[in-house]
This record gives sequence, C-alpha cells and structure tokens, in this order.
Amino acid sequence: MLSGSSSGLWLLFLCALGCVIAEEDKKVISTIGSTAELTCIYPQEKKFILNKLRVFWQIADGSKLCSVVHTFNSGHENQSEQCADFRNRTRLFQDKLENGIFSLLLLNVSLRDEHTYRCIVQKKDVVFRVIHNADVTLKVAANNSLPVLSEPTGNCPDIGEKVTLSCNYSQGYPEPNIYWINRTDNSSLHPSSLKIIQDNDGTYSVFSTLKIEPNSDIKVGCIIENELLQQNLTVLCKLLNIWQITGVCVCLHVYL
Ligand SMILES: *[C@@H]1O[C@H](CO)[C@@H](O)[C@H](O)[C@H]1NC(C)=O
Ligand SMILES: *[C@@H]1O[C@H](CO)[C@@H](O)[C@H](O)[C@H]1NC(C)=O
Ligand SMILES: *[C@@H]1O[C@H](CO)[C@@H](O)[C@H](O)[C@H]1NC(C)=O
Ligand SMILES: *[C@@H]1O[C@H](CO)[C@@H](O)[C@H](O)[C@H]1NC(C)=O
Ligand SMILES: *[C@@H]1O[C@H](CO)[C@@H](O)[C@H](O)[C@H]1NC(C)=O
Ligand SMILES: *[C@@H]1O[C@H](CO)[C@@H](O)[C@H](O)[C@H]1NC(C)=O
Ligand SMILES: *[C@@H]1O[C@H](CO)[C@@H](O)[C@H](O)[C@H]1NC(C)=O
Ligand SMILES: *[C@@H]1O[C@H](CO)[C@@H](O)[C@H](O)[C@H]1NC(C)=O
Repeated sequence: MLSGSSSGLWLLFLCALGCVIAEEDKKVISTIGSTAELTCIYPQEKKFILNKLRVFWQIADGSKLCSVVHTFNSGHENQSEQCADFRNRTRLFQDKLENGIFSLLLLNVSLRDEHTYRCIVQKKDVVFRVIHNADVTLKVAANNSLPVLSEPTGNCPDIGEKVTLSCNYSQGYPEPNIYWINRTDNSSLHPSSLKIIQDNDGTYSVFSTLKIEPNSDIKVGCIIENELLQQNLTVLCKLLNIWQITGVCVCLHVYL
C-alpha cells in the first residue's frame, strides 16, 4: 500500500534526524460516536512560526498497515497520505498551533480507533528537527444503551412460588460485569442464567435471568458495570401486585 510504505519512510526520515524518546504517555478514554481529544502540548516562550512547523500524528503501535492520521506541513494541512479510516475525522486547533498546542480532535470515535497515537513536532531552523514527541493511548468504551428489565413471569405473590425477571443489555464495551442485587439490603443475588455474547461490531450483549420468591414488597436491581468508565448503570424493579389479582405482578421500573 502506498500510504503504508511512505509512512514507513517518514519514520526512517525522522529517525535520521535523531529519534526522540516519547516523553509522555497518556491514556484517553472516549465513548463510541463522541469526539476524542488526543493531547500534545509543547509550549515555548516564543510563538511558533507556522511555515517553519511540521506536526505529524501517526499510529505508533504498528497495528495497522496505514499509520498516517494527520499531517500539518509548513503552514498547510496535507492529507494526501492520510489513512482512509481517518478521512474527515481529524482536526488540529489551527489557531492554537503557534502557542504549542498540537492536540488532535478525532471525531465520531469507533472501536477501530483503539490505538497508541504519536504526535511528532518538527521545527525548522536550518533544517527541520524533531522538537517534541508524545504518545497517547486511546481506549474506547461503549455505553449507549440502558439495561432493560422484563416484566416478571410466573406466579406472584403466591408464597413459595418464584417469579422470573430478565435483564438485557446491549452494545457495551469493554465486556461488562452484571450484578443482581436485593435493593432492600444491597446483598447480591445469584442469577439463574447468564449469557454474554460479543456481537459482530465488537460490542457485548448481556442476557441474564433471576428467579426470586416475591414473598414481600421486594426491590430488585440489575447493575451493569463498565469498569473502563467506572460506571454503573442500574435498573430497579419494585415488584407490585397493583391489580390485587393473585398471580399477577408487575415491575415498577426506576433507572439510576
Ligand atoms: C502533500 O504531500 C504529498 C506527498 O507527501 C506531496 O506530493 C504533495 O505535493 C503535498 N501537497 C501539498 C499541497 O503540499
Ligand atoms: C469528506 O468530506 C468531503 C467534503 O465535505 C466529501 O466530499 C467527502 O466525500 C468526505 N469523505 C469521506 C470519506 O467521508
Ligand atoms: C460515525 O461512524 C460510523 C461508523 O463507525 C458511521 O456509521 C456513522 O455514519 C458515522 N457518523 C457520522 C455522524 O459521521
Ligand atoms: C456514557 O458515559 C458517558 C461518559 O461517562 C456519560 O456522559 C453518558 O451519560 C453515558 N451514557 C449512558 C447511556 O449512561
Ligand atoms: C431478553 O433477551 C431474551 C433472549 O433474547 C428475550 O427472550 C427476552 O424477551 C429479552 N427481554 C427483554 C426485557 O428485552
Ligand atoms: C432482601 O433483603 C431483605 C432484608 O434483608 C430480606 O428480608 C429479603 O428476604 C431479601 N429478599 C431476597 C429475595 O433475598
Ligand atoms: C444500597 O445502595 C444504594 C446505592 O449504592 C444506597 O443509596 C443505599 O443507601 C444502600 N442501602 C442499604 C440498605 O445499604
Ligand atoms: C458497581 O456495583 C457493584 C455491585 O454493587 C460494585 O461492586 C461496584 O464497585 C460498582 N462500581 C462502580 C464503578 O460504582
């Protein structure tokens, strides 16, 4: 591939001028569909002169054949070598470049964007030299849906009988954890079934059921945990027999 081989040439060229060990290694967490800001800041006392500046954003982990993410060369963007994946999705802060802010905005993030990115800044005195080099690792999470609890099936509130609740969650990333809890004392409840599948788009879906004896006014919670986002999505079901008909129970849903 043309873009692959020429980006390799760029790397060689940069090393010929002296490789700079990455000084920073940051982690950025972004959700699918949102805009990620990959930080690269190198302030100087004097303002940078744009036509003596080059900013290269590349994929640094070697995981892709094509590694060119964004190129700014001597006052102009030049995306002729940019990987097709990134077309129209990258922006520099044009009016902040002279102040040493070389951060990149990556629009409409998807799971395929999980890479380590490298920002390489060159300044021209006599020739262009690398003055700054920073790595940023992008972690992508998905949390676009809420867990869904079904209406209970089974006899309710007959003593000794159990009702079944099911909790479904779709399109989470990375693989979520699921917990069922007794919300009265926050003790954990053991699911009677649990299935986690990875869909074609890489996201995870969860299907779980719980059988409980509805012998009192009971509140049950289904919690979906995204460890990367440090986020718990909780749906509660307060089992009610609103029609006072033996055997018929409904769920009063509350999201937290
Ligand atoms: C953009 O870069 C390519 C090769 O890297 C070069 O051939 C082309 O002339 C450049 N375009 C502009 C407008 O500088
Ligand atoms: C990028 O944007 C240009 C101009 O808006 C458009 O013509 C082109 O089709 C877009 N390319 C992609 C890959 O979305
Ligand atoms: C965002 O990217 C997805 C594919 O990853 C695409 O289907 C969708 O149309 C894009 N949305 C926008 C607003 O460009
Ligand atoms: C997903 O996470 C983001 C960032 O933490 C948050 O702003 C958003 O509300 C969450 N989405 C849902 C459906 O909870
Ligand atoms: C959850 O998924 C199972 C299996 O696909 C389905 O039978 C059930 O109706 C779903 N429940 C809800 C509340 O969507
Ligand atoms: C929920 O907790 C309350 C208080 O500890 C307890 O009385 C009740 O039996 C528990 N329900 C279930 C289904 O474990
Ligand atoms: C259960 O957990 C919720 C949320 O973490 C909290 O607000 C509530 O006070 C807890 N209840 C008990 C009985 O510990
Ligand atoms: C989510 O809830 C589970 C179960 O109650 C708990 O162990 C975990 O620490 C919670 N995680 C976060 C990020 O609040």
